[in-house]
Amino acid sequence: MSVTAEELGRAYLAGEGLPPLPRGHLIDGRFQPSVSGEEMESFDPGLGTAFASFAAGGADDVALAVTSAERGLAIWRQTGPAERHRVLQTVAGLIRETSPLLSLVDTLDSGKTLSEAKGDVESAARMFDYYAAIAETLEGSEIPLSQDQISFTRREPVGVTAHIIPWNYPTSTFARGVAPALAAGCSVVAKPAETTPFTALVMADLLLKAGLPAGVVNVVTGLGTAVGAPLVAHPAIRHITFTGSVATGVTVAQAAARRVASVTLELGGKSPLIALSDCDPDAVAQGALWAIFSNAGQVCSAGSRLIVHRSVHSAVVTRLVALTEALRVGHGLRAVDMGAINSKAQRDKISGYVEGARARGRNILTGGQSVRTSEACQGWFYAPTLIDDLPTDDPCVVEEIFGPVLAIQIVDSDEEALNAANGTAFGLMAGIYSQDIGRALAMARDLDSGQVTINDYWAGGVAVPFGGRRLSGYGREKGREGVAAYLSTKAITVRLPASPAKA
Ligand code: NAI
Ligand code: MG
Repeated sequence: MSVTAEELGRAYLAGEGLPPLPRGHLIDGRFQPSVSGEEMESFDPGLGTAFASFAAGGADDVALAVTSAERGLAIWRQTGPAERHRVLQTVAGLIRETSPLLSLVDTLDSGKTLSEAKGDVESAARMFDYYAAIAETLEGSEIPLSQDQISFTRREPVGVTAHIIPWNYPTSTFARGVAPALAAGCSVVAKPAETTPFTALVMADLLLKAGLPAGVVNVVTGLGTAVGAPLVAHPAIRHITFTGSVATGVTVAQAAARRVASVTLELGGKSPLIALSDCDPDAVAQGALWAIFSNAGQVCSAGSRLIVHRSVHSAVVTRLVALTEALRVGHGLRAVDMGAINSKAQRDKISGYVEGARARGRNILTGGQSVRTSEACQGWFYAPTLIDDLPTDDPCVVEEIFGPVLAIQIVDSDEEALNAANGTAFGLMAGIYSQDIGRALAMARDLDSGQVTINDYWAGGVAVPFGGRRLSGYGREKGREGVAAYLSTKAITVRLPASPAKA
């Protein structure tokens, strides 16, 4: 495709429409309508208007997709690692070639900025690069026993897997689960979020183009209750990878427990960015800005709390207010730094938290309202917001807001910083800023979270394992560990005849 995402975006904003998008479920290698014939619409959060319709699935569509995935599994588990590698590597290339369309569609579905969407598409391609390589390295081990036994392990695909995908990173979250599942030899039924169905459909089409046999990947679109619930309850699903809210994650894990299927839960967070007394205030302000305002704060691992030492508080906050007030907010296809909130409901949830803080007399340094950026831009926006000097039990400190709202906590020692950081029910991520690497590493050791970064909140990449502790969930995605959920070890042990006696 030679046309750029910007050109496609200009045509869309000028009312010239979009390139054709797949709109049915992908089942048995074909896009097909719902059994019920029902459809629903996806809204462009930057305009608050519907831009395309897609199939609204139900239990009948789920049943067809799982049957298709069982046939797909029979083929794919017999497909050798070299061919799995080839297909996944081809997909990575096709995702990059299709980046203009995928990025545009991601911006329209989710509300993020086009540059964020491009980043997310590249990160999806990287997932396929990485797990293409992993596909050929899934070795078992040989276990030393007595001389008359040989024991070894095989790492076999766990079976048909379900992937429940949220709306904040619909492109890379699809790839993060589907690529390792395919590397392991599993088949897939994916359910994208109801507000962001399209990039999963486009990528599923690319998987077919790369030579993946029909049935190995299936996508069913629609509501969580109508499609997600029957999918996770289906007896043929052997593993579920879920990313989303704590409440829905618990429901999914309960459904899986009834038939003893395994689950990976990537739930929310209330992750701290900790600025120690010897930090560089400029680096902290820059780091905190993007820790919270990337994707308008709709990130499970967002740095949604700034825990800052009193001695640097004023230097950090002065800089952060200036940077925050310079952010341009608007439709993701325009020249902006921060896009829309994915849905009106989510925007209202964010607003509810900030109004609660206002009613409690908290110090809102900037933001604190919904923004209407221009006449042409009537979508669901929220101003980047900073709330200062919050106590450890404030709802804005302990609960996930999932929006562009930073809760600032002031502390007087490293110990108080650590206690504040570990003081919520979540344990996903934490960032530390300090000039003293020993001091930062000591704190990293004591933090109760799945990830810690030092002096760059978003440091890392596809090769680094990612996941939570406590309410943030369990299991790991990305990295070598990310394929483990899709494998089941089989140990084979052989009794040998005794060695002939030595003469
Ligand atoms: P949700 O957890 O209900 O939705 C996530 C996915 O689960 C969607 O695909 C949805 O259709 C599906 N789902 C819903 N009910 C289901 C069920 N009974 N069985 C199976 N699948 C089901 O989250 P929602 O309502 O979109 O957002 C609510 C809050 O969740 C947000 O405000 C945010 O705090 C958190 N969230 C966290 C995410 C993360 O990255 N960890 C992503 C999205 C939301
Ligand atoms: Mg949408």
